[in-house]
Amino acid sequence: MSDPSHPEPLRKQNHPRALAARAKRRAEAEAAGVDAAFISDLVERFYEGIRTDAVLGPIFARHIADWPPHLARMKAFWRSILHNSAEFSGNPMQRHAAVHEAGSELGEAEFARWLRLFYATCEALAAERGLDRAAARQVNERARMIADSLLTGIATREHGLTAARAGDGLPKP
Ligand code: HEM
Repeated sequence: MSDPSHPEPLRKQNHPRALAARAKRRAEAEAAGVDAAFISDLVERFYEGIRTDAVLGPIFARHIADWPPHLARMKAFWRSILHNSAEFSGNPMQRHAAVHEAGSELGEAEFARWLRLFYATCEALAAERGLDRAAARQVNERARMIADSLLTGIATREHGLTAARAGDGLPKP
């Protein structure tokens, strides 16, 4: 039961400083052309490519039966990353480890392939929209950082701390 004499503490993500930082991040991304419409098209186009990829397509097909909710989730994820929108709550590390442990190899080769497709999609879309190359690069840098941490997490679960630099060989944008 909530006690009115002890109001709920302000959630961290709703703190005025957090709100201001989030608004600033979003405004900067939008000014560079990385707005919600760009993110939506990027996600749609990237997963269209993924689904027909000879290596990655079958992995996704094994785990995702219903694509529209996955795409909606991925758009919220990328808005959280690029606009700091704090609207995504999930557990990517746990989900990818589970995919790997269920028998779909998620190692350096697979993450490198994922990244190359992501970079190419993002660069092509940015060029079509007349965005600065630096804007696409920033998006791609974020993808690489996340891929690195997912790969490192999976490798560390499997091989212990000797795998701590697992992502070093991933392609750079
Ligand atoms: C080898 C590369 C990758 C493969 C094969 C892969 C595959 C998958 C699959 C099958 C799922 C659905 C899991 C489930 O719902 O049970 C998933 C979810 C997801 N993936 Fe990936 N992924 C890869 C790399 C990445 C990277 C690099 C990112 C981010 C930059 C990413 C972001 C996500 C997110 C945010 C989710 C949703 C997690 C959640 O619901 O908590 N994935 N991925």
